[in-house]
This record gives sequence, C-alpha cells and structure tokens, in this order.
Amino acid sequence: MSILQTLKNRFATALQPLSDDVAPLLDMIRSSQDPKFGDFQANCAMPLAKQVGRPPRDVAADIIAALDVSDICEAPEIAGPGFINLKLKDAWIVERVNSIAGDDRLGVMPVENPRHVIVDFSSPNVAKPMHVGHLRSSVIGDAICRTLRFAGHKVTSDNHIGDWGTQFGMIIYGYRNFVDSAAYAADPVAELARLYKLVNQLSDYHAAKQKLPQLKISLQLQKDELAAEQSETDPADKKAKKKLKSFQKAVDTTLDSIKSAEEKLAAVAADSNLQQLADAHPNIARLARAETSKLHAGDVDNQKLWDEFLPACLQALQRVYDRLDIQFDMTLGESYYNPMLADVVSSLKDKGLATDSDGATCVFVEGNEAPFIVQKTDGAFTYATTDLATIQYRVEQLKADEILYVVDKRQAEHFNLLFKTCELWGFKDLKCQHVSFGTVMGKDGKPYKTRSGDNIGLESLIDEAIARARTVVDENDDRRETPVLSAEDRHSVAEIVGIGGIKYADLHHNRESDYEFDWDKMLATTGDTATYMQYAYARICGIFRELNIDRNAIGQATANVLLTGPEERALALQLIQFDEAISSVISDYRPNQMTGWLFDAAGKFSAFYAQCSVKNAETPELKASRLVLCDLMARAIKTGLSLLAIDTAEVL
Ligand code: ARG
Repeated sequence: MSILQTLKNRFATALQPLSDDVAPLLDMIRSSQDPKFGDFQANCAMPLAKQVGRPPRDVAADIIAALDVSDICEAPEIAGPGFINLKLKDAWIVERVNSIAGDDRLGVMPVENPRHVIVDFSSPNVAKPMHVGHLRSSVIGDAICRTLRFAGHKVTSDNHIGDWGTQFGMIIYGYRNFVDSAAYAADPVAELARLYKLVNQLSDYHAAKQKLPQLKISLQLQKDELAAEQSETDPADKKAKKKLKSFQKAVDTTLDSIKSAEEKLAAVAADSNLQQLADAHPNIARLARAETSKLHAGDVDNQKLWDEFLPACLQALQRVYDRLDIQFDMTLGESYYNPMLADVVSSLKDKGLATDSDGATCVFVEGNEAPFIVQKTDGAFTYATTDLATIQYRVEQLKADEILYVVDKRQAEHFNLLFKTCELWGFKDLKCQHVSFGTVMGKDGKPYKTRSGDNIGLESLIDEAIARARTVVDENDDRRETPVLSAEDRHSVAEIVGIGGIKYADLHHNRESDYEFDWDKMLATTGDTATYMQYAYARICGIFRELNIDRNAIGQATANVLLTGPEERALALQLIQFDEAISSVISDYRPNQMTGWLFDAAGKFSAFYAQCSVKNAETPELKASRLVLCDLMARAIKTGLSLLAIDTAEVL
C-alpha cells in the first residue's frame, strides 16, 4: 500500500470519532511542497474546527492524540493555524527502499480488486491516412492500457475504427467517377485519400454556393439591426453595451461564414479542372450519401467495393501502429455492429426510451436539450446507435466492468448523451468515462497543419522525428573523445529518441489542454522531455559500466541503504512512492501524472548525484548504498517510460 494511503487509513481511524464525513478530510492529506513542513501535511483540522466551532489548533491536537503513526513517523507537529506536519522516520524509509532494491516494479503490488476495462482508443475513420490528429488518442490510450495492466487490471484494447460511415459513400462515389486506375494500383490508400478529399471539396463547394446568398441577406439584416441599436444606445448604459456587443458578434460570425464560403468557391474556381468537375456533379453530396445508404442496405456492388477497400486501409493503419509499438486486442469497427442496430432501436422503443420526433427516432435525456438520434428520417442508423450496440456487446459478450473512450473533447456532448442513455437502458453497473483531450496546435495557434492547410500525415511526422533525433544522437556521440555508436546503433537510438520524443511531448501535457507542437522543445536534452529521461537512464547505465558492476546482481544482494544527507533521503522517499504515480495516472486516466513523477524523480536524482559521490564514496558501504539508489532510479525510468510506451537504450 502506498505511503499516502497508509497515512490516510491511520487518519481515518483517528478522525472517525470526530466527524461523520471523513472522506473530504482525508483528501486534505498531501505530500508537502517544502521539506521544512515535513514529508506530508494534513490540513484537515481547519475545516473540522469550523464544523465543531473550536480553535483549529486544539482540534489538530485532538487528532494527533488519536492518531497512531508512531511506527512510520516522527512525532507529528502542529504548525501555523493548525496544519499537521508529518515527517517519516528515516529507518522506515530505509526499510522500504531496501525491500524494493533491484525490483523493476519498484515494489508495486497488483491491485486487490482487478476490473475488466475496455479501452476504446485510436479509432480512426479509415479510408484516409492517419494524421497528427490521431496521435493523441493513440498515444494516450496506449499509455492508459499499459498502466492499467501494470496495476493488475484486465485490459482489452479495442480499436473502434470508423469503417462504415459516410466516408465510404464518398469514396465509392469518387471511385466510380474519378478514379485514376494506375494510381490506385500503385498505392490504393493514397488514391482513396485523394478521392475522399476531392468528393469532400466538391460537396463543400456546392454547399457554399447554395448558402452564400442567404448568408449575405442575413448579414445585411444583422448590420441594420446593429446600426439601429447603435443609434439608440446610451454609452453609459452597461446592459445596452453588452447587447450591442452580442449584435456585433452575430455580424462577425456571419462575416466569417461568408469568408469561408467564398474561399471554398475561389479554390475550385482557381482550377479549371476542378471547376469542370464541380459543374458536372452538382448533386455530389446527395449522391455520395445515397451510396452510403445503399451499402448499409446490403447493395452487392457497394459491399464488393467496401470489401476491396478495407484491407488496404487496415494495412496502412497497421504500418503506423507497428512503428508506434501499439497493439490492439481487437479491432471491431463500426461495421461489426451493423447487424445489431435494428435491435438496439427496437429495444429502446420497447422500454419507452426512444420516441418518434419529426420522423426520426430519438432518445430525450432529461437536462439535455439536444436529442440523441438513433435512427434518422431516411431510416439510417447513426454513430449513436453503433455506440449503443457496442456497449451492449462489450458488457454482454466481453463482460466489461468499465469502458474508457479516449476521444477528442469535441465529442463530449455525444458521450454525455451516450452514457446517460445507457444508464436508462439498464447498464447501471457499468462505469464509462470519456477520457477527453485537446488539439495539437501549430505555431500559428491553429490546429497543426501543413502550410497548404492539409493534415500532417502521421507517418511523415514519425519520419521527421527520427531524422531530427538522428542529428541529436550524432552530435552527442561525435562530442565524445571516441564515439561509441555504430551507424546501425545510431539509427536504432534515433528511432527510440524520435518516437519517444513525440509521445512524451504529447503525454506530459494535461490531456485536456491544447498544446503546441514544437520540435525543438520535444527533443531538448534538458527539461521535461523523453530525451532528458532517456539520457539520464543511459548515464546511470554508464556509471555501472564504468565500475564494471552488473546491475542484475543488485537485486540479489541484501540492500543496506544509508541516508547520510537530505538529497539521499529525498531521492529514496521519491523512489518508494512509484506506486503513487501509478494510482494517480489511473485515478483520472492522466498519463502526465507519470511524466510529472519521472521529472520530479530526475530532479531529485540530479541533486543527489551532484552532492553524493558514488564512485568515490567515503566507505564501501556508502558506495554500495548509493549504487542501489542509482540502480533503482534507472529501473524507475525504464519502467515509467515503458508504461508510456517509450523505449530506453543503455548507450545514447
Ligand atoms: N471514429 C471516431 C472519430 O474519428 C472516433 C470513435 C471513438 N470511439 C467510439 N466508440 N465512439 O471521430
């Protein structure tokens, strides 16, 4: 059990007689930011004092009187208004650190109550090459799977690919009308991607053309309203000014829509070929949708094309997953659930959950304005229907206890409605969570794209990362008196550093934030980067090589760690709390809790290494003790990074 959890349990016993609701009080026990306040701090006396109307320091004294931590901590101290400061006994730290010496798991025990967690991640819509937007779900989802497995849970990773959606109607239409057969034979996925883009562009063109006159009329009306409001507004009236602002905003929004529509028209007009195609296919959007409907209705020719397209699409995905070292236990795409959709809708109707609304079948969820549409007016089932069928399958066939959806935060509304519908539908014991994340941004503050506005392909991104990492690796090795890496080593190390760099840069952000893609920061050898952690690992391996000591022997011998100074103590305390990093990642599925722990640990290791000589330690016992700490740090980095699917190398 983690130290924090042990302390919480002890506090729970002490607090029970003093309060009916100890859980929020226990949340106020944390590790201290500053060692002068001890190792842990409990700030629960203040709110408890408020509840009972007594001085907080007195309440703190009562808590301490009832608290039994003497085996773990020095005598607790009361500070300031009633903080309880706890300092762990050195002997206790030593005992713990000795017990995990040489252990790759750093003493982390498997959980007592394992859950079966299905992690739905990556899940791209196929028929288009993977782009930078797919990076986040793939990398975050994989890290979550690995961490859950490490903790002892049963995990099923499922790539819920979009292989049945409207994009197939688009490529079927594109294939029938615009295919370049030679290009298709040479690289089917690239040609399908071109067709998808083309059909999309032509559909957008016609939509823009149709919308533009109406947009211009709206703009005039909004401008008139704004002018009228402006002439009546008293500049001192705050409320009126606010109203004016909202009028201005409406005008701006319409202006933006007009601009975007005009850009779409201009892009086609600028290319006579495209213009000809656009003129020849005025109903392209409707016809592409009709191809999707035909496919869904079992049309033989469309099914044949689908059967032909899909393996090529999957192969292209697999290439990327292999390079990223991501494995799925199953890849059950949307198409798999197609035969179950009609039953889902009937079941929802039978239970009185789904009702007819203007010809569509919808679930109305209390507190939500938007309906959850499970069957459209034309009879088509939706993304929502598929997700409901998927949940049913995962619970009934796979026996899932919990499902995680690692999906862009822009789908929050969908998942909110999905989870609520599911509960109403009867899946009451199932735990579902939308593990949402933000966008990868470019330097211009907009979603990261190529200069011409195209998505950045994931494969070319990986290639570039490796090429850039190669420069870092070359420079580092060339700086050595005698370089140690062969060309082959340099290549494999560059792969480890480059791919690790991309992953870490993504994972170390709070997943919900957008982040800026920055090559230089990502591959920097100092700072919170994979490269820094990987170099730290190699440096520790180097110490052992230099001393000609086999690291594997460390776990076999009885460890006897000596804490002779604050740096050794701080490092040892950090190392015995690796389990805390694991549970923090799992508690809200945030891999940045692991990068944060690693970065903290690396900082403590640096301080230790600067202060405490290992090679020239004063006594053989001290040297042995410090080597145990070095080895544990190396294991922590290797294990911690491996949970983020980031590799290490002994020589960089
Ligand atoms: N294919 C979807 C998209 O690209 C993501 C699917 C996520 N998983 C799910 N079960 N809805 O937007």
